[in-house]
Amino acid sequence: MSAKFQSPKGVHDVLPDDHLFFSYIKKIVRHRCRQSGFRRITTPLFENVDVFTRSLGESTDIVEKEMFLMESKSGKKLALKPEGTAGVVRAYLQHGMAQLPQPVELYYIEPHFRYNRPQKGRYRQFHQFGFEVIGEADPAIDAQVIFLAHQINADLGIADKLSLQLNTIGSLESRQKYKEDLVSFYTGKERSLCEDCKKRLHKNPLRLLDCKEEDCQILASMAPKFDSVMDDASKEHYALVKEYLDELGVPYTENPTLVRGLDYYSHTVFEFWSQSEGAQNATGGGGRYDGLVEEMGGQPTPAIGYAAGIERLIDYIKEAGIRPPNKDRVQVFVAQLGLPAKKKALPLLNALREKGINTVGAVGKDSLKAQVGLADKMNARYALIMGQIEVKENTMILRDMERGSQETISFDDAVDRMVELFGDNTIDENKLWEE
Ligand code: HAM
Repeated sequence: MSAKFQSPKGVHDVLPDDHLFFSYIKKIVRHRCRQSGFRRITTPLFENVDVFTRSLGESTDIVEKEMFLMESKSGKKLALKPEGTAGVVRAYLQHGMAQLPQPVELYYIEPHFRYNRPQKGRYRQFHQFGFEVIGEADPAIDAQVIFLAHQINADLGIADKLSLQLNTIGSLESRQKYKEDLVSFYTGKERSLCEDCKKRLHKNPLRLLDCKEEDCQILASMAPKFDSVMDDASKEHYALVKEYLDELGVPYTENPTLVRGLDYYSHTVFEFWSQSEGAQNATGGGGRYDGLVEEMGGQPTPAIGYAAGIERLIDYIKEAGIRPPNKDRVQVFVAQLGLPAKKKALPLLNALREKGINTVGAVGKDSLKAQVGLADKMNARYALIMGQIEVKENTMILRDMERGSQETISFDDAVDRMVELFGDNTIDENKLWEE
């Protein structure tokens, strides 16, 4: 029978098993970002809607149809954040980060919301981790950002299953010229375009190049190439990005039709594509957004960033057969029978937990056999068992749940024996301050 209440369409619970993957990814991201000098930022889950319309572009899919909109009681229009870059740039300006030594390097790990048609790998609430470098135009930074993304993919064991697609969309001026060329190329050929592309033609012609419809792809392959209008500075920037990537040993595929779906980009754009079938094949993407800080009211400030979808990464990690270490595994199950045993068991549970050992104790009145059965179902590594005889003799039975063997030990030695097996993982107060 299905439950009376179900989660809304396109959103889902992150169940304990998936949290193993989430924690694993977050740990790698935190480690790699910190190592490269990034500091963590969290922007609110919702912003004034202008933050997104202004930055992502009025005619992008996200702004046109994918934002979750709300109105405050005073009539202010708000939106749940569909992506992270706009909020980070808003925060950079609001908190005077332009006065800090540049570039400012920030990372985030957060839920985002897009009202799109749900399918595998595409949800209405999903998680992204991302990083932004604001205040540096050098192409070496582009290569470093791409390298960091690649390195995280490698740590996750999926770098060789992903292909890095790389392109440049040049400066704002050359892009404007290119858009005009595209409009003249497509004019008169509208009948061969899909409905979406017909609408995009005058609003956002670059998007016609990365449409997935077959007829649109054929036309895109015949469309004028960006090369023809790109200025020399943009060409040089792109050439250097590629040289640096070669130096860093990051393999890439040049893809002249890659344009990305957000208006704020300029110059370098990139995505990591999975080789497996299916439309939702980008695990992450990013690029330069040299005009955005100014667009949002700041001084002209170059910037570049990247974001990846955590749910999509988890799918690929699972497909690759990678299982993160299960830190939730029950290490010790304490079984006891009778009130005197229970009284001795409670402080023992705490003493074991203090040593950082994952310990579970039965509190019901089930037989010892039933309790050991429960330990087995929980996949506990060891059971410590205390019945009436053991209480009287101040002993315990230590059962190795994997081997099925057991021995009697002194109650007073129980904690030391477990520490011998699992190590002393007492939390270091100082480490609590580490994220
Ligand atoms: P994006 O390509 O829109 O870029 O999203 C980045 C990643 O988020 C995608 O590659 C995908 O893995 C994941 N993603 C996006 N939408 C969904 C969805 N509906 N369900 C599941 N996963 C999804 C950005 O968001 C830019 N802010 C990246 C960036 C940062 N550019 C510069 N800095």
